[in-house]
Amino acid sequence: MNRLTETLDPALARHILRELGEEAREHRFEVAPNPCVGAAVLSGSSVVARGFHRAWGGPHAEVEALRMAAESPVPAADWDTMLVTLEPCSSTGKTPPCVEAIKAAGIRRVIVAAQDPDPRHRGAGLDALRQAGIEVLVDPVAAPLEVVSPHFLAWNDYERRRRPRPWTIAKWAQTLSGHLSPPEDVGDGRRISGAASLQEVHLLRSRVDAVVTGVGTVLHDDPRLTVRLRTEASAAPISGPERVVLDSWLRTPPEARLFEAPGEGEFGGPVHIMAHPGPDPIRRRALEGVGARVHGGRGMDRHTLDLRDLWTWLSDRGFERVMLEAGPTLLRNALEEGFVDQVRVYTGNVRGGEGESLASWLEASKLTERLHREAGADGVLEAFLG
Ligand SMILES: NC(=O)c1ccc[n+]([C@@H]2O[C@H](COP(=O)([O-])OP(=O)(O)OC[C@H]3O[C@@H](n4cnc5c(N)ncnc54)[C@H](OP(=O)(O)O)[C@@H]3O)[C@@H](O)[C@H]2O)c1
Repeated sequence: MNRLTETLDPALARHILRELGEEAREHRFEVAPNPCVGAAVLSGSSVVARGFHRAWGGPHAEVEALRMAAESPVPAADWDTMLVTLEPCSSTGKTPPCVEAIKAAGIRRVIVAAQDPDPRHRGAGLDALRQAGIEVLVDPVAAPLEVVSPHFLAWNDYERRRRPRPWTIAKWAQTLSGHLSPPEDVGDGRRISGAASLQEVHLLRSRVDAVVTGVGTVLHDDPRLTVRLRTEASAAPISGPERVVLDSWLRTPPEARLFEAPGEGEFGGPVHIMAHPGPDPIRRRALEGVGARVHGGRGMDRHTLDLRDLWTWLSDRGFERVMLEAGPTLLRNALEEGFVDQVRVYTGNVRGGEGESLASWLEASKLTERLHREAGADGVLEAFLG
């Protein structure tokens, strides 16, 4: 044992790792499909700072912990150990490699609770640290990945990786009876949830690669599907999601608000229309004339588009995290065909409603890691699909 190992009580290290894992889990619905990760910078046996991966695409826990440590009164020369619940990354993804940040900070020992389950990265971060002369210990007892981040294990499952498709979050608003459209005399026949929920949805849109909807929603609601955030909620850089409409017969009107240029403080990516092969050339030209990108897909039957094809297309386009923001027809199909990984359901204080209710589907479905919370006056259910 070298000097460093002697100075940190293993029981204390486990205790801190367990706490980091518990707090990291709180961010599971914001980070998925990324893992929940917590990290702490120590000086001797004192915790200088903690950091967490809080949002998909946002800073990793290690970088956040180092940033917080830099704001503490403890000088960097006194930081000796980092505890982290998952092996630090060694390659550049949406953020630079954490291994480099740890090396640059002069950390001399790293204790991790779990190795990266992705076979392309497993052990690479630990090797890179060792090569830099940093002592590396793996203590798998305190914060196993099965407990801290089971969704990340599912994301790295062999079958899932063999046939990749983006992590899909189905979001909808419903009335107390599970209807997605309110009675005609409520909320202009389309609004169920309140302003706080709406801001959350805009934030979520800013943290996905694409928003997918059906032509039924476009015809009924004429949505923009862009990001419009109040300034205080938009500290992180904002990118507008690409917008994808399933529209077999090109019923989307060229006048739809989807095609209007984003206003100030509004962010939206290109609009893709997914149609049957050989779509009507006149409609196609009209839509392309307003900026739509029309793609002729393969039909599953005479009526609807093949969702497997769509999710393959989304994956081929490099999308990793998408949101399904549609009416009951597309939502139910995607849920029943197993394309949804996570749900976020806003329930407004509205009785009754029009169209199909998803209440019985929600009751019968196998939801895991459920969270019930509030957004303004609305109830919010978040969960992963088993
Ligand atoms: N509460 C909420 O969160 C929420 C959100 C969105 C909409 N809504 C409400 O939902 C209502 C619209 O419902 P909707 O069910 O018609 O909208 P939708 O699910 O958004 O759109 C359904 C349409 O998408 C097309 N589609 C193409 N491929 C499909 C596939 N594989 N599976 C399913 N659909 C496919 C079909 O039209 P084609 O055959 O012509 O392609 C289908 O009719 C409106 O009243 C709207 O206000 C509520």
